Amino acid sequence: MNKTGTSDLKYLFNPRSIAVIGASRTPGKIGHDLLKNIVEYGFKGEIYPINPVADEILGYKAYPSIKHVPGEVDVAIIVVPVDKVTSVARECGEKGVKFLVVITSGFGEVGNVEAEEELLKIAREYNMRILGPNIFGYTYTPVRLNATFGPRDVLEGPIAFISQSGALGIALMGWTIMEEIGLSAIVSVGNMIDLDVVDISKYLAEDLNTRVITIYLEGLKPNTGFKFIEEMKKVTKKKPVIVIKAGRTTKGMVAVASHTGSLAGTDHLYNAAFKQAGIIRAYTIEEMFDYARLFATQSIPRGDRTLIITNGGGVGVIATDVAEETNVPLLSPSSDLISKLRETMPWFGSPKNPVDLTGQAGVDNYVKALKIAFESKEVDNIVLLYCRTAILDPRDLAKAVAELYNDYRDTGKPIVAGFVGGLDVREAISILNRSGIPAYPSPERAVSSLSKLLEYRSYLLKNK
Ligand code: ACO
Repeated sequence: MNKTGTSDLKYLFNPRSIAVIGASRTPGKIGHDLLKNIVEYGFKGEIYPINPVADEILGYKAYPSIKHVPGEVDVAIIVVPVDKVTSVARECGEKGVKFLVVITSGFGEVGNVEAEEELLKIAREYNMRILGPNIFGYTYTPVRLNATFGPRDVLEGPIAFISQSGALGIALMGWTIMEEIGLSAIVSVGNMIDLDVVDISKYLAEDLNTRVITIYLEGLKPNTGFKFIEEMKKVTKKKPVIVIKAGRTTKGMVAVASHTGSLAGTDHLYNAAFKQAGIIRAYTIEEMFDYARLFATQSIPRGDRTLIITNGGGVGVIATDVAEETNVPLLSPSSDLISKLRETMPWFGSPKNPVDLTGQAGVDNYVKALKIAFESKEVDNIVLLYCRTAILDPRDLAKAVAELYNDYRDTGKPIVAGFVGGLDVREAISILNRSGIPAYPSPERAVSSLSKLLEYRSYLLKNK
């Protein structure tokens, strides 16, 4: 395959014009709903619905074929049944289309390898690139492009998500809205007959709107493992990559084979490959986005010495256990730092690490302790914990911390929060997240996420 440079993907992510081939007049059909998403999410480029029997769809003039479109077309989204795909692809080639985004199923995933080969042949002949087939589309929020048949709304942000699974990818689009996770791109890669996870990652590594890349991976194509490691090494030098790899178990591998036809491979081989390439592995969807939330806002710390500040001994102890288990070194504060911290708490508190402000702590105690932590040269990372008490409303604490953070954001010192409690704690977590402090509903999730930042830091130090 004559693959051109990834810089060519510019027109996939920043198209000047998009045609939807198989744009349907009927709501509820994929070709209709996908076009509706492009229109309603606010894409500003030219939009051309292609349909042989319609004059107009969703207020846009429809054309009987791509060849009738007056202007240039950067991206053609193909949503016609499998037996029509190659003929419309050829027309796209003749028109000079740059990218084919093939939504249609019924290719290699069901053994129809010939159709896949034919499609790829046409793409090569006309120097087009293909995303798919068998995908739900893609999204690039900086240009308000949602060319998927998933939910219309996608929250803008710096996390890119590449998915080898279609249904899961669509489901996670809704989930990220609920969890207030901001995305730069969502890319469904499906059968990866041309553009694959590596190509998309390489492009996103250079993308100024993306800070972290997350990937749902089932497996690689045969004989691509070495390329994956070498190319992803280059990506992780520029951006953190978090992968959730499915098909870990024997039965899971069988499920992968019948889903995307990829080689799930032995799990320990994937583990070794990820490690070599500097990829951070997540084992659950929740973990993947937990880590991503932190990488999206926090910088690589100067060091790994970590200070825990809490109002509850219990959560402090849990955090300490997780820190030890996940290689997060807890700082042993100097006597000078201990005496400063002692000033921030009642006499029965503990200025050691975890710094226990006690259940009597109010906003003031937290603010004083946090200032000291941000200003101390001994502290490289801060874990802020809170347990709901009657005397301290978590929302008041979150607002105060968010305000304080404005003064210390530029220090680049990572901070992560674990707030435990009920509905008002959920609101507080949301306030913190919106202010750029990654916040979680448990101390374990906060510390585990920080541990991944430190893991990435030590990878970068070893692989300069
Ligand atoms: N050029 C342009 N438009 C055409 C052409 C042509 N040559 N031929 C037909 N059309 C029009 C049709 O007239 C129709 O429009 P209309 O409804 O206004 O009449 C439209 O294209 C769609 O054609 P249909 O034959 O109605 O096809 P349908 O919408 O039923 O199915 C689809 C097409 C969606 C591509 C289907 O074949 C398919 O592959 N579905 C699965 C897609 C999928 O799940 N992808 C993976 C996603 S990931 C996941 O798992 C969620």
